[in-house]
Amino acid sequence: MSENTRRRVVILGSTGSIGRQALDVIRENPDDFEVAGLVAGGKAEQLKQQTEEFGVTRSGLGGRAALDLATLDEADIVLNAVVGAAGLRASVAALDAGKTLALANKESLVAGGEVCLRSARKGGGTIVAVDSEHAALAQCLTGVDLSTISRLVLTASGGPFRTRADLTTVTPADALAHPTWAMGPKITIDSATLMNKGLEIIEAHHLFGLDYHRIDAVCHPQSLVHGMVEFLDSTTILQAAPTDMRVPIQAALTFPSRRPRVGKAIDWAGVGTIEFEAVDHDRFPCMGLARAAGTIGGTHPAALNAANEEAVGAFLNHRISFVDIPVVIEKVLGEHESLDPQDLDAVLDADAWARGRAADYIETMRMKT
Ligand SMILES: NC(=O)c1ccc[n+]([C@@H]2O[C@H](COP(=O)([O-])OP(=O)(O)OC[C@H]3O[C@@H](n4cnc5c(N)ncnc54)[C@H](OP(=O)(O)O)[C@@H]3O)[C@@H](O)[C@H]2O)c1
Repeated sequence: MSENTRRRVVILGSTGSIGRQALDVIRENPDDFEVAGLVAGGKAEQLKQQTEEFGVTRSGLGGRAALDLATLDEADIVLNAVVGAAGLRASVAALDAGKTLALANKESLVAGGEVCLRSARKGGGTIVAVDSEHAALAQCLTGVDLSTISRLVLTASGGPFRTRADLTTVTPADALAHPTWAMGPKITIDSATLMNKGLEIIEAHHLFGLDYHRIDAVCHPQSLVHGMVEFLDSTTILQAAPTDMRVPIQAALTFPSRRPRVGKAIDWAGVGTIEFEAVDHDRFPCMGLARAAGTIGGTHPAALNAANEEAVGAFLNHRISFVDIPVVIEKVLGEHESLDPQDLDAVLDADAWARGRAADYIETMRMKT
């Protein structure tokens, strides 16, 4: 890419883990990218420093700013790195406006997958996944005839409790100590419960159009292999990359081409053994809850996502225990009556309803302890 073809990137959630790493990628590749706009949630001072460093004139705080900058005329790519369903409206707006949406905010597709895909169809926008697992699958699937695939397999690190038998005494500090990835607090807890893998199964369903029974996950504690595509002839193609989110972020910003990267590739001789093992659904029920919600469809995934966000927030605030997280989600989903998920208002209503019910259950659990 030369000076006059630099891609102009808007980053929503620029002060977070993904947002800051995206700025690292842009800082390392000034000939390839320029920053067209930045949005943060509340960290005004950090946002100001970022705008000064990158000479950005368009920036703002909160959901309104995210909506405005998601459709910025000057932007070639909108990277949505907001955490939670708070990012959904901006994803829809970017796709309605025909933008390339580099999507880290998986909750957009979990809660509003149908709405996002419909907006992409109508508005002409395209979604490029930033999640390392989906970036891996997209790379394995490039040029592939989809009728030759039997299964997609996502890898999970297994989180900090992969080998811990008793999860009843887990504290937020324990759960925030992820063994392989340094991420924001919400996704770190989702990784510890394995809800993250469940959300990613729903994300993969929408991105690649496969039924849920053809999307699976395995634990892979080294986090070097990120995704696998299994073909009808029992061949599997795996994608591997260093455990560094700047690799898939750069891949998303340059997709489908590749650019050189600062940093080392995997030293395979030094890696030694790599392991794969089955997910323990008894200790980690969240992945199954997500798969079930996705399979039921309608607004179930939106309710699942919202109940999870509330439960994770309550756990981080010491209001419920780690093992209460799936209990809250299951109770909320058990009561949920699905609506048509094509309608953004229905998705947002389901989200609000599920948050209310989750808050009620969390309060009841607190009163019992
Ligand atoms: N971190 C990773 O390695 C990783 C990997 C794969 C996927 N993801 C996904 O990427 C997304 C971001 O994760 P993260 O770990 O980067 O989260 P994070 O560190 O918590 O950062 C979240 C960002 O969103 C901003 N934000 C929050 N609410 C907002 C709102 N209402 N309007 C505008 N901005 C808002 C925050 O702003 P303030 O800081 O100013 O409050 C912050 O910039 C999540 O969906 C996550 O699942 C993350």
